[in-house]
Amino acid sequence: MNERLIIFDTTLRDGEQSPGASMTRDEKIRIAKVLEKMRVDVIEAGFPAASPGDFESVKAVASVIRNSIVCGLARAVKGDIDRAAEATKPAAASRIHTFIATSPIHMKEKLRMSPEEVLKQAEWAVKYARRFTDDVEFSPEDAGRSELEFLCRVVETAIAAGATTVNIPDTVGYNVPGQFGALIRQLMERVPNADQAVFSVHCHNDLGLAVANSLEAVMNGARQVECTVNGLGERAGNASLEEIVMAVRTRQDVFPCDTGLETTQIVPASRLVSGITGFPVQPNKAIVGANAFAHESGIHQDGVIKKRETYEIMRAQDVGWSANRMVLGKHSGRNAFKTRLHELGVDFATEEELNSTFVRFKDLADKKHEIFDEDLQALVTEEGLEHGQERFKLVTLQVCSQTGETPRAKVTLSIDGKERSAEADGSGAVDASFKAIEQIVQSGGQLQLFSVSNITSGTDAQGEVTVRLEKGGRICNGLGADTDIVIASAKSYIMAINKLLKENLREHPQNSRAI
Ligand code: KIV
Ligand code: ZN
Repeated sequence: MNERLIIFDTTLRDGEQSPGASMTRDEKIRIAKVLEKMRVDVIEAGFPAASPGDFESVKAVASVIRNSIVCGLARAVKGDIDRAAEATKPAAASRIHTFIATSPIHMKEKLRMSPEEVLKQAEWAVKYARRFTDDVEFSPEDAGRSELEFLCRVVETAIAAGATTVNIPDTVGYNVPGQFGALIRQLMERVPNADQAVFSVHCHNDLGLAVANSLEAVMNGARQVECTVNGLGERAGNASLEEIVMAVRTRQDVFPCDTGLETTQIVPASRLVSGITGFPVQPNKAIVGANAFAHESGIHQDGVIKKRETYEIMRAQDVGWSANRMVLGKHSGRNAFKTRLHELGVDFATEEELNSTFVRFKDLADKKHEIFDEDLQALVTEEGLEHGQERFKLVTLQVCSQTGETPRAKVTLSIDGKERSAEADGSGAVDASFKAIEQIVQSGGQLQLFSVSNITSGTDAQGEVTVRLEKGGRICNGLGADTDIVIASAKSYIMAINKLLKENLREHPQNSRAI
């Protein structure tokens, strides 16, 4: 039987470090639940020392997740480790992931520490973390640019101090596959106590090589891969979970290990993460892109009809693309609605949640004849994001847009239960609506992104709008879907405002000030 490849998902931590991808506590819980359903082994839920909000999010995830290990990140300092230990305490199984940089440039320019000091700090941090849990992961940050001799000493010391997983990050995405695979092999051969820890890799995608480097590491002995849904992450992102998992699963003839993942949850997870972060998935993205299983050329279509394997190396259903795009409509009942969502991997926590989403489904079905899976997924994403607790709610929106006339919008919002209205002109209907909303709310948020995409095809399709707002360095996304894109835009703008006005400032994990 093949060995197990551990999947460590860091969408909620490194993924959240993508500029503009910050997530609220409830959003993190929703994503964590899908990851658990996907049977991800370890969920890195955040960096608890970064801000009170991050701490609360990690704690909340640790309180609801029962079947995956919940991990908190900590720099190699007491304060961070204490916070990570406290935040992950409610978990059924918890891990502390502590790290310190080991490359010459990071030690000299960022940490201003000598290699000996770094070595001591690493040893101390692992020992200290072990006071709280038996499951401690250590990462020598920027290992991909560290000197091999020194890296071997740090890894040996961390294992001797009690690290059960040693993670080798290519922090700046500088390595190439042959070199990175050789690094893992050399570490495993040279470090005398290497057999006492699981070797893990964490690759960034600056040269587009994160997945290739991770897979090469697996071929050379790594048995944990750190990755993110849709390849989200700092700068160009991390290795994408879906690509790692499906490469290993599809090529069992070459990989000596396999994951325990429920791959049918991949597409629902991708959609949810994309909806929450506002990062769209490119159509030709492997596994989760809209075209990943579409055949355009006649020759290919003919081949697939005759025998699917002529042009398909995986089954779309196996990654969660629905084989049967059963269409619902306004006559569909609550049970059909619930059953279809269950098949799509969405279950409601309470009857109340089911009922309110069903009401919204009926509203949508009044405007749109056929409801596709994509519409249902947009509906639940929006429902989950709103959660009924937002300060600002859209009550009505009226727009007047006419050739030769200045577009004008009248908006009524409910603010903490009280209604307020405003009118504004704009260069278009969306612009006028945003200005009217801003007149009421005065958020001061700067619009950084406005994107519209169609959820399904046809002129009655829902438009999905993402709005990204920035204020004082904080960035928040809003998402709205509606058959009328001006209304979808207003919903999305209001959601971004709701988040912007309640989020906490956080510290970046790689900031070394605490050391
Ligand atoms: O990229 C990196 O080095 C990291 C570490 C904290 C593991 O994210
Ligand atoms: Zn990283």
